[in-house]
Amino acid sequence: MSSAGSRKVETETPSSGATSEHVASLVGASKVFGEGDAVVRALDDVTIGFRRGQFTAVMGPSGSGKSTLMYCQSGLDRLSSGQAFVGDVDVSTLSDQELSVLRRSKLGFIFQSFHLVPALSAHENITLPVDLDSGAEVDEDFLAELAEVLGIANRLENRPSQLSGGQRQRVAVARAMIPRPDVIFADEPTGALDSKTSGELLTYLRQAVDELGQTIVMVTHDAVAASHCDRVVYVQDGRLVGEAQQPTVDDVLNKIRELS
Ligand SMILES: Nc1ncnc2c1ncn2[C@@H]1O[C@H](COP(=O)(O)OP(=O)(O)O)[C@@H](O)[C@H]1O
Ligand SMILES: [Mg+2]
Repeated sequence: MSSAGSRKVETETPSSGATSEHVASLVGASKVFGEGDAVVRALDDVTIGFRRGQFTAVMGPSGSGKSTLMYCQSGLDRLSSGQAFVGDVDVSTLSDQELSVLRRSKLGFIFQSFHLVPALSAHENITLPVDLDSGAEVDEDFLAELAEVLGIANRLENRPSQLSGGQRQRVAVARAMIPRPDVIFADEPTGALDSKTSGELLTYLRQAVDELGQTIVMVTHDAVAASHCDRVVYVQDGRLVGEAQQPTVDDVLNKIRELS
């Protein structure tokens, strides 16, 4: 996947302007932490959209605002100014309760630490978000299909402590996917994995995009992880500073060197 340098289409000016064809988007989004001398502009007037069925990597130096972008886009945190849309809903207009309903029904999350519930089986962990959503029912056929694709079909009755790190991460992926979310947000999902397990996880995420049309936004600082994506966007000091389609490992490494 890393050889075809000619596939790169790099834009000098970030052109990821948000329109209605996006499943999620930020418009003129800023997020400020602290006050006075201690003020940090974690997001600075960012406009970006994420298309249905697209796998996007968000990259940038540590502290550049990647997690803040993801948290504000998904309504886990609120913008200081600007708008964050999920579909055509401006999440900044929602109450905390409406937000949590939207997150449960429309969004999936995969974090570096898997946040699995130790006392529950893999199956119970996977169905947890659907079980919490009063109107929703678990699609057991879809769960079986996911478990098969993810290679955890024979581990569903095991508790997290009985699973390997890679298997736990795959349970977390299934849990994120089971409500058929419009978008999955992943914050450094491969950060705690060895390279083999990390490669497997990226293959599963890629499959979810290609075979199920899943939209994924993944924060990563791993060039190999980014090379599995359709698109990479670069963030520095809270601003978008570049983007590329079909990035190769070399493209990404060069851009990272340029930014740091
Ligand atoms: N809750 C917070 N309070 C104060 N500053 C924060 C908070 N969250 C993030 N920041 C600051 O905002 C900037 C961007 O952080 P973050 O989005 O976590 O960066 P990244 O994920 O790219 O490492 C950093 O300078 C960080 O210290
Ligand atoms: Mg981060």
